[in-house]
Amino acid sequence: MPKKKILVVGSGAREHALAWKLLQSPSVGEIVVAPGNAGIAGIARCVPVSVDDVPGLVALARSEAIDLVVVGPEAPLVSGLVDALEAAGIAAFGPRREAARLEGSKAFAKEIMREAGVPTAGFAVFDDAEAAEAYVREAGRPLVVKADGLCAGKGVVVAKDTAEALEAVRAMMRERVHGDAGARVVIEECLVGPEVSYHVVCDGTRYVPLAAAQDHKRLLDGDRGPNTGGMGAYSPPPVVTPEIERAILSRVVEPVLETMRARGTPFRGALFVGVMVVDGAPQVLEFNVRFGDPETEVLMARWGGDVLPLFDAAARGDLGGIAPAWDAPHALAVVLAAHGYPTAPRKGDRIEGLEAVREVPGVVAFHAGTRASGGGLETAGGRVLTVTAIGASLEEAAERAYLACDRIRFDGMQLRRDIGWQARRS
Ligand code: AMP
Ligand code: GLY
Repeated sequence: MPKKKILVVGSGAREHALAWKLLQSPSVGEIVVAPGNAGIAGIARCVPVSVDDVPGLVALARSEAIDLVVVGPEAPLVSGLVDALEAAGIAAFGPRREAARLEGSKAFAKEIMREAGVPTAGFAVFDDAEAAEAYVREAGRPLVVKADGLCAGKGVVVAKDTAEALEAVRAMMRERVHGDAGARVVIEECLVGPEVSYHVVCDGTRYVPLAAAQDHKRLLDGDRGPNTGGMGAYSPPPVVTPEIERAILSRVVEPVLETMRARGTPFRGALFVGVMVVDGAPQVLEFNVRFGDPETEVLMARWGGDVLPLFDAAARGDLGGIAPAWDAPHALAVVLAAHGYPTAPRKGDRIEGLEAVREVPGVVAFHAGTRASGGGLETAGGRVLTVTAIGASLEEAAERAYLACDRIRFDGMQLRRDIGWQARRS
């Protein structure tokens, strides 16, 4: 069989992990990444086309005679990249625009959850600031205020009291700090419990369950400090018992896929269910229509088989016969972030020690914000590297990951020392 040529869209550690895993496939001939980064350039050919440039990506896929496009980030999915690729006759892994609304609009996601009977926090949707404010005053208890549209992970305020909730409504709806994404808000009940990420790969009808993972959103140890894009992850988290996993599949994934299919907008691609475990049962916080970052790094590290048939079959609507293929029982990833992350990450700090990481068994350093400079590497974004380790136990994965982190240096480097704490405490 002729080998396949794959285009991966994105420039983070998630895309590095996807390209790295795809390269292990005996059926993959070449990987092109748009736009990629300095680490990805070490394993694949990077082409400087931005993830927002839908016509540019279609033209690239055409001129390179790409067999399958794997889309990393949500923004191009929400703006219709997969529709445009398919219209050009190019297969793509990821949902079309209508199905990507599960992430693109929080009000739409809640509507689908209600229709599908998915357990989720009670909510109300507002297009009018005055009505939203009246609702908040009336409620008089902690609420969560969410901008409807995409806000790069910054559109959610968990308000501890009425004043904070009112301030969030004002900022989103009146000041439009997130632009049009805040013209509509979802206000929901505040839930409390451990959070987990659950990924499934879908073909519109069927799905292949991947594993649960747990992200660490806060900057500092002990889940303190500001929210970030994610400071580390591990898989599997023991809080997701087989019973909870079954509930996520039967009460969330299956009814949502069925509802989307019945509406004529079947969901294909990676569905990432953001779950809070409340009283031993899953409550859905959000859907993402793509792989998580840093969750993908631990999932790809654990995956043992050829990942191409999974993505390819999902894109072609035929997942029948594809089964999960786990190899490593545990994986843990630590994000190394730049000075000033998340508010004002500094660029241009020289990165040293990456060669020494190769000596640590079971470890791979996926690149995010890195760029080539004077024969070496320097920081070029907030999240710089995701140091990912596999292990026979979570402890072993953690030891290896931190051993590797300690060999890497750049000025202002920030990392959490407690990734996996919820599972490693005992
Ligand atoms: P989302 O983008 O909807 O997942 O929200 C971002 C973060 O806000 C989540 O990871 C949770 O930590 C928090 N969050 C969202 N919805 C709720 C809720 N209903 N109750 C408590 N926390 C929430
Ligand atoms: N790790 C959370 C996300 O990718 O949205």
